[in-house]
Amino acid sequence: MTKWPDGTTRMGFDVTEFDTLRAETLAEIGEADLAALEDIRVRALGKSGAITALLKTLGGMTPDERQAKGPQIHGLREAVTNAIAARKAALEAAALEARLATEWLDMTLPVSAGRLGGVHPVSQVMDELAEIFADLGFAVASGPEIEDDWHNFSALNIPETHPARAMHDTFYFPDDKTVDGKRMLLRTHTSPVQIRTMTKQKPPIRIIAPGRVYRSDSDATHTPMFHQIEGLVIDRGIHMGHLKWTLETFLKAFFERDDIVLRLRPSYFPFTEPSAEVDVGYSREKGRRVIGGSEGWMEVLGCGMVHRRVIENCGLDPDEYQGFAFGTGVDRLAMLKYGMDDLRAFFDGDLRWLKHYGFRALDVPTLSGGIGA
Ligand code: PHE
Repeated sequence: MTKWPDGTTRMGFDVTEFDTLRAETLAEIGEADLAALEDIRVRALGKSGAITALLKTLGGMTPDERQAKGPQIHGLREAVTNAIAARKAALEAAALEARLATEWLDMTLPVSAGRLGGVHPVSQVMDELAEIFADLGFAVASGPEIEDDWHNFSALNIPETHPARAMHDTFYFPDDKTVDGKRMLLRTHTSPVQIRTMTKQKPPIRIIAPGRVYRSDSDATHTPMFHQIEGLVIDRGIHMGHLKWTLETFLKAFFERDDIVLRLRPSYFPFTEPSAEVDVGYSREKGRRVIGGSEGWMEVLGCGMVHRRVIENCGLDPDEYQGFAFGTGVDRLAMLKYGMDDLRAFFDGDLRWLKHYGFRALDVPTLSGGIGA
């Protein structure tokens, strides 16, 4: 057994063994791949690893011995730890380099539009709406499609016995599928996002919330799933003038015409007071109805001043904060603007229909470049 320079062998290992262990381990690390590296780490530094065993011998040494061998053993541990880390980093960097070398795109190649597919009119109209309302300072909010009774109805001033519940043809989940004791349903409108926004965010609030909604209804103008967009503004001193201006500005931008005429008819929604239904005037051009003018009227959305009970339900003081809300069907807006007449075709996935009514993937609607793409 070779002696340490100070002549001892009492540590239970021999100096040549120590050097060999060091040299061999470092050499092995230098050639290891990632899997082998982990194996070496376990053999050297793991619970019953060689270097761990050496470290354990320190406890049985006299203070003098420990002073002599301690730094060597710790030095070995550090050298091996560092070598493993360095090798690992080098291997990972090399692997990343290799991946980057194979996964690349030539951004200068012209796009082959055929391979990109098209944008569905619903997505197109939602993008158009987001662009128009962003310009007016509205953020886009969202909420879950699986809602609870409270957000979809009660908080919106539609109590259990209210006839409006029956009107909504709600898809309820089975009674044994409650969440935190709450009965769940597929949201029947985007209005619950009003509640989710007001309970989460302090006024001033200016949001739109586009999304899917569900009602048990199906014919040429109704599908069980369709799309709505909600608008909500809450601040101090908001009145119906703000509502009318916002709707007029939005509809002019959306239909890209200045001769848009609105008619607000008194109506009823439990969550707004007063409530109105908005008609937009149309004229006839070559037998077709075209938005603009006032030869006839088409209903486009529901709106009103947010009911004070709804504001209260969200923990806000209705004497301090007022606001307006509106809601409309995105699919319906798309049909009016782009002249489709059967709503069911929207969800058939017929490629011929999509090719005809779809939009080019790279034509992003902007106010400056044209909302209609
Ligand atoms: N949620 C109503 C509907 O689905 C629309 C609406 C929204 C009306 C906001 C007024 C205010 O018919």
